[in-house]
Amino acid sequence: MAEMNHLAGRPDWLPEGISPDIPNIARMYDYYLGGFHNFPVDRMFVDRVAQVYPDVRPAAVANRNFIRRAIHFLMEQQQINQFLDIGSGIPTVGNVHEIAQAVDPDTRVMYVDIDPVAVAISQRLLQDNTLAAAIQGDANFPEQIISHPEVIKLLDFSRPIAVIMAAVLHFIPDDEKACAITRYFHHAVCPGSFLVIAHGTYENAPQEVLDQLHILSAGAKTTNYTHRTRARLLPLFEGFELVEPGLVDAPLWRPDGPDDIFFDQPSRALNLVGVGMKQPA
Ligand SMILES: C[S@@+](CC[C@H](N)C(=O)[O-])C[C@H]1O[C@@H](n2cnc3c(N)ncnc32)[C@H](O)[C@@H]1O
Repeated sequence: MAEMNHLAGRPDWLPEGISPDIPNIARMYDYYLGGFHNFPVDRMFVDRVAQVYPDVRPAAVANRNFIRRAIHFLMEQQQINQFLDIGSGIPTVGNVHEIAQAVDPDTRVMYVDIDPVAVAISQRLLQDNTLAAAIQGDANFPEQIISHPEVIKLLDFSRPIAVIMAAVLHFIPDDEKACAITRYFHHAVCPGSFLVIAHGTYENAPQEVLDQLHILSAGAKTTNYTHRTRARLLPLFEGFELVEPGLVDAPLWRPDGPDDIFFDQPSRALNLVGVGMKQPA
């Protein structure tokens, strides 16, 4: 269980100035995944979402399973050993550095999240890990991420890097802005680098589910998703060539076996994913 500061009545992982009474997407996602860095208000909101979309928890697990498979593919088949994970979230289980450093302990992992709670917990977890670090950063300002001293210190942009943007670009509502962000990273990395995207989609969601989710989203600013169709997602990979099997429902991206496809209809995950490689100029 999380350590509590009983005198103050707050868990000691909660940074000063952060209210435990306002729902927060990083803590909600932590609850989806069975983590314990969340509060009643986060759990209440997730439970309301689950009433409308009962697949929400398996969908979060399917997303994490995709990230795990993508890391193995990138390391074992593409010799990638540097990761820039943007919108990395609160560490629960199966974090990028755990998966990657189990394959190769020399792998470097830079976590970036806008949420101070996610960053504080990540930094605490990583304090003894010299090859993984976490900073606070906003995907809307990729130039600030790339030029951050910790990023410059940890990652070598003259060698291939995998930029992971999993379940984060749907918090960027404007299509052109989202494309500008991935285009920036395309310019920042060298050929042979990869872009990994997982993104909420409404393509196969029943309309009544969408309507209810929109009503719920209106009640919590932090959950204001912009689901995108396949056609709106493909431009995010401009300059990157999608590896097989392309942009697909999360459970269908190179599943290790039937255990990875635990939906009878994989599209129920409402999550399109893809991995693209930067081609030589
Ligand atoms: C649903 S979680 C995804 C966590 C992890 N990437 C995964 O897929 O398992 C989304 C994370 O994106 C972060 N986030 C939202 N908007 C962001 C932004 N503009 N810049 C960086 N992080 C952001 C949230 O704080 C949250 O931790």
